[in-house]
Amino acid sequence: MPALTFVPADPSARPLYAVGHGGVGDWRATLDPAQAAYVEACGFLGKSGQIVLLPGADGAVIGAAVGLGTPKQQKRGRFLMATARAKLPEGTWTLTSDLSGAALDEAALGWLLAGYAFGRYNKAKPPKADLVAPDGVDAPRLEAIAAGEALTRDLINTPASDMGPAELEAACRDLAAAFDADITVTTGDDLLGANHPMIHTVGRASTRAPRLIDFTWGTASDPKLTLVGKGVCFDTGGLNLKPGSSMGLMKKDMGGAATVLGLAHMIMATGAKVRLRVLIPAVENSVAGDAFRPGDILTSRKGLTVEINNTDAEGRLVLADALALASEEDPDLIVSMATLTGAARVAVGPDLAPYFTDDDAVAAALETAAVQARDPVWRLPFWDPYEARIEPGIADLDNAPAGGMAGTITAALFLRRFVEDKDRYCHFDVYGWNPAAAPARPKGGVGMGARALFDALPDLF
Ligand code: BES
Ligand code: MN
Ligand code: ZN
Repeated sequence: MPALTFVPADPSARPLYAVGHGGVGDWRATLDPAQAAYVEACGFLGKSGQIVLLPGADGAVIGAAVGLGTPKQQKRGRFLMATARAKLPEGTWTLTSDLSGAALDEAALGWLLAGYAFGRYNKAKPPKADLVAPDGVDAPRLEAIAAGEALTRDLINTPASDMGPAELEAACRDLAAAFDADITVTTGDDLLGANHPMIHTVGRASTRAPRLIDFTWGTASDPKLTLVGKGVCFDTGGLNLKPGSSMGLMKKDMGGAATVLGLAHMIMATGAKVRLRVLIPAVENSVAGDAFRPGDILTSRKGLTVEINNTDAEGRLVLADALALASEEDPDLIVSMATLTGAARVAVGPDLAPYFTDDDAVAAALETAAVQARDPVWRLPFWDPYEARIEPGIADLDNAPAGGMAGTITAALFLRRFVEDKDRYCHFDVYGWNPAAAPARPKGGVGMGARALFDALPDLF
């Protein structure tokens, strides 16, 4: 599977020059005159997506150059070199460039991520060009990141018919087994005895039993990081049924769980110094005679009562019980990731991962890491004055405030109510989906925020 890894150095490897728009003249001057003329004749300007193959005297391809983009392209996009991978002939390439630091990591990681293809149903083939790990990158780390991201994408891309709560559990068991993590799963009516009433309520209408997946990895004395991921394997909206246009993509409503699992892979594969716990409420929000109803009042694990004003605001319900459980252990940091609201998409679109935290140090670490990792995030406020909006008349909380204004903020405030140490909590409202192909990110499931969190880890504790 060299697609998502680098290959060993190899004497037959050909040079791959990565050249920005401004550097084309200088680079051409290093070539022999015939090659320089050829490159010029081909119109190679170092733009994003451009490549030029270098012919040897006998007509063989002895090297290639790929564009790193114009300044404007670099401002508007990321992983610009990655598109080149699919255009290069089969074989092994060695990167030759002036890149260093984050830009070099971006080029190398972009190359790996461009090796991703979702071939489960049509045998889509990854590209055939391979790269020797460039000098100056931490190859095992980048490979762990690429593998984690590929896991996230595979889980999201797999349709609900093959990715229900049981299959999501199986994916967690595979991951836990690969890294010797301890895993327990509470399923179906056992959720009631274990006091996870809201996970049970949301999932009970499906023929595929709801469950809470809980796994732990690492050394007990290390800082405790708990990741909570929304695992709604399909969201019909429940009795407040979504219209067809909104339901079409709802296989991705386990995108938070998928992203958390990708991040867990990165953490475990690199042996990061944390005691990791992953909690995933895995359910299907379905329609049946025993579905929960608008107007129902649920009592949560924490004891807070919740009035259901919309069965389509189900993610916050299952996350609430998981967050309450997470808090009982008093970890150093709790992070939730969820495809929680359409409002988050209206606010920032599909590229940015909005996040909430009351801890300015966590935010500062994330901002720096997001730039470094080319994984953009954007802070939104836990705006206390809106707390009243999630308080209805006859219960403690309302799952879907009327009017819907600031829907991503009120959803985040709802979740925060279930966390004990509110200062050590961070919530991401992710989209989990790339609507149009971009470099290193094909159309389909995609991780958001995980790479930023991973890079931020050393600064978080
Ligand atoms: N899974 C959806 C949110 C969602 C929709 C994410 C589309 C990404 C794309 C969530 O369960 C939901 O339906 N939220 C409702 C909440 C509302 C009823 C308060 C929403 O955002 O409309
Ligand atoms: Mn919903
Ligand atoms: Zn949902």
